[in-house]
Amino acid sequence: MTSKFYITTPIYYVNSTPHLGHAYTTIFADAMRRYHQLTGKETYLLTGTDEHGDKIAKKAASLNMTPKEMVDKNSEVFRNLAPKLASTNDDFIRTTDERHIKVVQALLQKVYDKGDIYFAEYEGKYCFGCERFLGDDELVDGKCPDHKTEPETIKEGNYFFKMSKYWDELRQKIEDNPRWVQPDNFRNEVIGLLKQGAQDLCISRPKERLTWGIELPFDNKFVTYVWFDALINYISALGCPDGELYQKFGGEMSHLIAKDILKPHCVYWPTMLLSMELPLPKEIAIHGYWLMDSGKMSKSHGNVVDPFEYIEKYGIDLLRFYLLRTMRFGRDSVFSHDEFLTTVNAELVNNIFNLYSRLVGMCRKNTDLKIPAYGPQGEKEQELKHAFSSLKRELEDICLSFQSDRYIERIVQASGAINKYLDESKPWSLAKDPTKKEEMGTILRLSLEAVRQVFVWLSPVIPNLSQKVLAELGADGKDLYAQLDSWEILENEQALPEKITAVPRLME
Ligand code: ME8
Ligand code: MG
Repeated sequence: MTSKFYITTPIYYVNSTPHLGHAYTTIFADAMRRYHQLTGKETYLLTGTDEHGDKIAKKAASLNMTPKEMVDKNSEVFRNLAPKLASTNDDFIRTTDERHIKVVQALLQKVYDKGDIYFAEYEGKYCFGCERFLGDDELVDGKCPDHKTEPETIKEGNYFFKMSKYWDELRQKIEDNPRWVQPDNFRNEVIGLLKQGAQDLCISRPKERLTWGIELPFDNKFVTYVWFDALINYISALGCPDGELYQKFGGEMSHLIAKDILKPHCVYWPTMLLSMELPLPKEIAIHGYWLMDSGKMSKSHGNVVDPFEYIEKYGIDLLRFYLLRTMRFGRDSVFSHDEFLTTVNAELVNNIFNLYSRLVGMCRKNTDLKIPAYGPQGEKEQELKHAFSSLKRELEDICLSFQSDRYIERIVQASGAINKYLDESKPWSLAKDPTKKEEMGTILRLSLEAVRQVFVWLSPVIPNLSQKVLAELGADGKDLYAQLDSWEILENEQALPEKITAVPRLME
């Protein structure tokens, strides 16, 4: 197994401010990063903003701003959102960064010199919302199905990338590697796209029509098509081709995206990389949409959930928990406030945090708030240990297939097993009998060790709360992952705090 993990989010368009959909992908990528970091891998997380193109230029004009003024302002909002999501991104790339522009131009030149870019007259139907020419087969009643607008017929000379040259190689790659595009429903969609036949990609825009882009290095009357520019962020940020980070992580890319941008990521990008003679992504993971009752959540539909409001009111950990728990990887999910409350209440409050406070309560009553030593252990103890014994393997599989919902479900189950163990072994009744003190110690100690494991497992999901609880248990040091194999990590007689971290029941 590789010891490195490099995960990216899409770079978000700065023609609007972030909503919950953007927040979700960043949170998801961060949770994946934290998980792999926990397991001891060397990890890197990249996010950023996509700032060139028609859409941005038009929006800026409508606001009476220059594109530069608008992108500076809006990019800041995305940059500031990341830490509020508890995202541990190592970098934040902007496509207007000089470091990015240099790499895009160098790679364009490389592809051009190789003969993979040609000039041709082209007439087609252009959707400004999608920033691309649409085929007749993609139109619904003559309109773009996403933007509900009629595309404009445009005839112009442009540069084209010979994507078709790499079509078969790409088909082979995807057919040979079942996990290269995940999950399967989207893998099949990509295979379907490839079966439609090889195409080339228009990669320029004449400056008469658009100046807000990266100039082609071989023809200064044109700028680069926004996707050819944007996708390169994943490697320009690492300093491709010579940078140390690129050397380390360039061959390890895991791209996390939603299904809206499947084609650029699964078709354009790999063929670009093949032409550039650079390593392909290791995997492309595709999630569904957050919907509102009224349809896809998007700025243009005016039905967005503001993540800032939730973070303000409930704290980021609860939002992370709900989002990662609720969305099944690859499927759409309806965002519902009621479901947010019930999920957090049922699983985090009633199951996990109630268990923790119950245990500390028993220690308060019976051990003077000290972590008890083990007494003799029996069958019930073996059973509880057994319930945890396969977690490492199971959760590794679950994480490799990006199933955050099952990850959390499995941990909630494990916490349920501790609750069951406590209910069955009834330490409170042993407490009354002075000769049973050691047995009671066993039960409390084993349960506390199990709770420690639960919070280590939860640390990628609810990093702040987990950190606090682990600190209260005196188990927030290094090697947390290795410690999952042991039931003797806590210190005998260590004092638990008078007041512990809690998640109160959510009411509204
Ligand atoms: O497409 N549900 O940027 P973008 C889930 N700049 N995720 C959602 C979502 C929703 N309702 N809405 C947005 C672009 N997202 C390009 C990407 S990458 C080289 C260039 C998330 O601002 C999801 O990750 O439209 C989706 O793929 C992304 O935001 C689109 O962001
Ligand atoms: Mg979009």
